[in-house]
Amino acid sequence: MNKIRYELLHVDKYTGARRGRIHTKRGIIETPVFMPVGTNATVKGLTGRMIEEVGSEIILANAFHLFLRPGLEVLNHFNGIHNFMNWKKPLLTDSGGFQVFSLKGRKITEEGVTFKSPLDGSTIMISPEKSMEIQQTIGSDIAMAFDECVDTKITDYNYFKESVDRTFRWAKRSYEAHNRDDQALFGIVQGGLYSDLRQRSLEQIISIPFDGYALGGLAVGEPYQESEKVLKEFANKLPQDKPRYIMGIGSPTMMLLSVENGMDMFDCVLPTRMGRHGTALTWKGKLNLKNSKMTFDDKPIEEGCTCYACQNHSRGYIKHLYKRDELLAKTLISIHNLHFNISFVKAMRKAIEEDRFREFKEEFFKTSTYPLK
Ligand code: GUN
Ligand code: ZN
Repeated sequence: MNKIRYELLHVDKYTGARRGRIHTKRGIIETPVFMPVGTNATVKGLTGRMIEEVGSEIILANAFHLFLRPGLEVLNHFNGIHNFMNWKKPLLTDSGGFQVFSLKGRKITEEGVTFKSPLDGSTIMISPEKSMEIQQTIGSDIAMAFDECVDTKITDYNYFKESVDRTFRWAKRSYEAHNRDDQALFGIVQGGLYSDLRQRSLEQIISIPFDGYALGGLAVGEPYQESEKVLKEFANKLPQDKPRYIMGIGSPTMMLLSVENGMDMFDCVLPTRMGRHGTALTWKGKLNLKNSKMTFDDKPIEEGCTCYACQNHSRGYIKHLYKRDELLAKTLISIHNLHFNISFVKAMRKAIEEDRFREFKEEFFKTSTYPLK
């Protein structure tokens, strides 16, 4: 069985921006690509048809959450996540190496991470081997190595260094334990904002022949200028012939900076989380749909937008739904926001093909209120 194959189509003449294609057994993923987050085997509030209609080519799910609920027995019974949720396109799973670390009371040892089950308080261990077992049972098209994403409150250099080396050992164990030949496995580079540790981690991780490589430990609360420095220095040191994924980012600003420096894949809860909180993303900036200014507004969220929400409903109606706490409000805004993020990566693809990525970026910051002005 074949895993994935990355095809580099074009590099923008004036920046590091790449236009590519990931071939998978469940279809082609055009890159740069935005992956909507479907933590619990659902993109919150959207049916599968809606997820497809906003243009998603791949979605993301979380090994950690699915391991806790519904658990491996259920996932096994349903023969994996695609069948379970009836999603036929590609799907990527995060390893748990991020979600576990935000738990209170978790303990890191060489073996893995121990934590108290949020369900019944019992002690659970996730190791690199366990993470591979979980992700192989889920049956995602792309699995991630089990890594340590250091707590944002830790700034100690020596801790980061130990963590980088532990992430390397865990990456080797992930690679060894992984044995599903129809599933790709990506490695994750850590190292925080320390240039020498990023370099160390990058060399370690790319020494393992993963099917793709990710930058982790970014967008964990630092200002975007700090992540930009890491991107500028390291994105293009990742192998040319494999997909490059920056984890947990998805704001227009961060997607632009990532693509400019040569990254291909992103995921973020931002569009759906904001949607559930009543904020829409538009080409001009954020739009608060809860605002009383919306009451008599008969325009769609964004004029010219081809999403279901904009084609069918007014800001005034969505504001009413939101204020009445109606489920549909969150669904409609999430649809629009995902459609926006996906239109945004599509626009980046076109700009790269035409060697005008820099102009595209400058124009976007000129005509919108997103940060970087
Ligand atoms: N999601 C966002 N950042 C990270 C990271 O550093 N590691 C993992 N596994 N997932 C992430
Ligand atoms: Zn719309």
